[in-house]
Amino acid sequence: MDDALSRFAPPRSSATALVEASGLWLTVPARPGTVNAQGGLDIVRDMSLRVNAGESVGIVGPSGSGKTSLLMLLAGLERPTRGTVRVDGVDLGTLGENRLARFRGARIGIVFQSFHLIPTMTALDNVAVPLELAGTRNAASIARTALEQVGLAHRMTHLPGQLSGGEQQRVAIARAFAPRPALLLADEPTGNLDARTGESVQALLFGLQRDNNTALVLITHDPVLAGRCDRVVEVAEGRLRDRAA
Ligand SMILES: Nc1ncnc2c1ncn2[C@@H]1O[C@H](COP(=O)(O)OP(=O)(O)O)[C@@H](O)[C@H]1O
Ligand SMILES: [Mg+2]
Repeated sequence: MDDALSRFAPPRSSATALVEASGLWLTVPARPGTVNAQGGLDIVRDMSLRVNAGESVGIVGPSGSGKTSLLMLLAGLERPTRGTVRVDGVDLGTLGENRLARFRGARIGIVFQSFHLIPTMTALDNVAVPLELAGTRNAASIARTALEQVGLAHRMTHLPGQLSGGEQQRVAIARAFAPRPALLLADEPTGNLDARTGESVQALLFGLQRDNNTALVLITHDPVLAGRCDRVVEVAEGRLRDRAA
C-alpha cells in the first residue's frame, strides 16, 4: 500500500462507527409516476445508518424499495443528492473520482448477485489485477492465498465461464476480501445460487467477515440469511426503519 492509500487506514477500535450515513437522499430525473415538488423522483428518502466496525447489518425490503440504491451510496458508486456518507472516518463527498476509486479499492469490498467477474481473465487475475492496480506489492501471492481461503486452490487458472455459479461467487468473495477491506457490501450474494450452494457461500462470507472483523452490510430477500446478521433494518418506499432481528 502506498502513502496515499495508507492514509485511508487510521487505527480503529471495535466500537467505532465504521459507516455513518446521515440524511441521505437520492433523487433521479422523474419518469411518469411519483414526482416530488421539484419534478424529481426520490428513490432514497432521508436514510441514516450507522454500522460499527465488525458489525453485520442485514437490509431487507420489497423489490424496488431502494436497497441497491442505498448500497451504491454507501459504496460511493452513486453520489447522494443530499446527505453524507462517512466510511472509516472519511467523508466520501470530499473525495474526487480518482481518490474515491482508490479509497473504495482499499477499504470497501463489494459482492454482487451476478458476480461481476471479468470473463476474459482467470480466477487468479480477477483477484490479482485490482490489487496490482492499487499498487499492492505481492499482488499475485495475496490473490493466491485469498483463493485458497475460499476453497479454490484448484481453480486458479480457470476462466469464469469454466466455473460453476458458486465457484464464481467464491472468486468474487476472494476479490472483495483480498485488500482486507474495513467494509463489505453484499447485494443478494446468494440470489443466483441454488439453496445448497447458497448455504456454503453464506458460511464462507460470514466466516471471513468474522475472522477479519469486517463490517458487513448485506442485502437479502432470504430471512434466514438476514437472521444471521447482528441487526436487521428494513427498507420500504425509500425509507429505512429498524426491525427486531
Ligand atoms: N438510476 C435510476 N434512475 C431511475 N430510477 C432508478 C434508478 N435506480 C433505481 N431506480 C428506481 O428506484 C427504485 C429503487 O431501486 P433499487 O434501489 O434498485 O431497489 P431494490 O434494490 O430495493 O430492488 C426502483 O423503483 C428503481 O426502478
Ligand atoms: Mg436491488
